[in-house]
Amino acid sequence: MALKYKHTLLLVDDEESITKSLQRLFRQEAYEIYTASSGQEGLKMLKEAQKPFSLIISDQRMPEMTGVQFLEKTKKIFPWAVRILLTAYSDIDAIVDAVNRGEIHRYFPKPWNEEDLLLQVRQCLEQYELVVENRRLLALTKKQNKELGELNKNLENKVAERSREIVEKNKELSRLNQELESSLYNTVRAFASLVEMHTPSLAGHGRRVSVMSREIAQLLDLPEDEVTQIEIAALLHDIGKLGFPQRLLKYEENKWTSQDRTLFRNHPQEGQATVQFINKLDHVGLLIRSHHEHYDGQGYPDQLAEEEIPLGSRIIAVADAYDKIVNLKIDVDRSLKEVTKASKVTQDHLPEDEVLQKAAILHLREHGFTRYDPDIVKVFLNLLKTRGITYGREKEVSINDLKEGMILSRSIYSSSGRFLLPHNTTLTRDYIRKLTALHKNDPITDVIYVRGE
Ligand SMILES: [Fe+2]
Repeated sequence: MALKYKHTLLLVDDEESITKSLQRLFRQEAYEIYTASSGQEGLKMLKEAQKPFSLIISDQRMPEMTGVQFLEKTKKIFPWAVRILLTAYSDIDAIVDAVNRGEIHRYFPKPWNEEDLLLQVRQCLEQYELVVENRRLLALTKKQNKELGELNKNLENKVAERSREIVEKNKELSRLNQELESSLYNTVRAFASLVEMHTPSLAGHGRRVSVMSREIAQLLDLPEDEVTQIEIAALLHDIGKLGFPQRLLKYEENKWTSQDRTLFRNHPQEGQATVQFINKLDHVGLLIRSHHEHYDGQGYPDQLAEEEIPLGSRIIAVADAYDKIVNLKIDVDRSLKEVTKASKVTQDHLPEDEVLQKAAILHLREHGFTRYDPDIVKVFLNLLKTRGITYGREKEVSINDLKEGMILSRSIYSSSGRFLLPHNTTLTRDYIRKLTALHKNDPITDVIYVRGE
């Protein structure tokens, strides 16, 4: 195997003839040779060297410092250099010990066999090259591993940073989205209240149905987003009736022509058609479409039954039926007859609102399973029992007790049905000022509910 590098050798002997003959021997090889006549001189040379020595040959018997002592010291300066000792047989014990301790790699008897020495030096240098190459590769691997580690760390930091940015951006987007959604819903609430104010026969119906539907949906533990969609659908459920002739809005069905009936039965689809192109209201449109479906599949327009009917539509149907009897007083005569028959008293004994309330409850009980979802009827009847009682952590306040920072737990409407502020609004000084000013012209007669915590 040819040597890859030009090697530097140091030859140390107090007898110049020896170093000279060694120099001569190595002339045929491409080594760079230095000589010294003592250990001290050799050490000085090594310390001042500009490049590493690959191999050091030293005589054992020298004044002041023996070869073993010298080679031991060179180990500290060039630990990887090959150390060879030249010696007479008489010193053999000390030398074997030094070899065993790893201070010297080889030793040669004096006088030496030239060919053997040349060959052995060459082999030692080959081994030295392997060691050096090995160390170089090891150092390179270490360096590359370190760099890789740093790159990885940087990459991880960058990924983490980017992930953080994305999470922040997503949060911001969803906040903006929510803001957009809630301003859309507030616009719908405001316009719906205006429409109702100008259509006396519908006045307050949508608003009351929406308040009841929201409460039912909340009792069913539906997610807030769905609760809001149900509330908005309830608010708009009869929007398909806008433009109906007044006689149709009186609900005197016995006077209707077949065309009137068709027109009336179309109002759920008309309502859906009104909102379906507004992006966020497509589900609201579906709920509006199905609010006249019956639990037994006998309703309209699609004859859906039971769970086929969207939950929101089943909720709206119950609240709608209750409000039609109690507040719109539709079919009052029939309701009154049913009540007096059921309670075996004459209606004169009862105040009208109590009779209507009983009539509505009776109607819902009777038609649970046929028209209405019996589970929702049950939830709603429980709700009626607890009405007037505040829910969970909310408390009642009057208009004069409103304070900055209070959070509305229910929406505020004026007595004329005007939508003023949605639930979850945090009251500011400006809101309170506006509410108080408005209260003078269009009083807020409903109780105001705020969060109690
Ligand atoms: Fe309707």
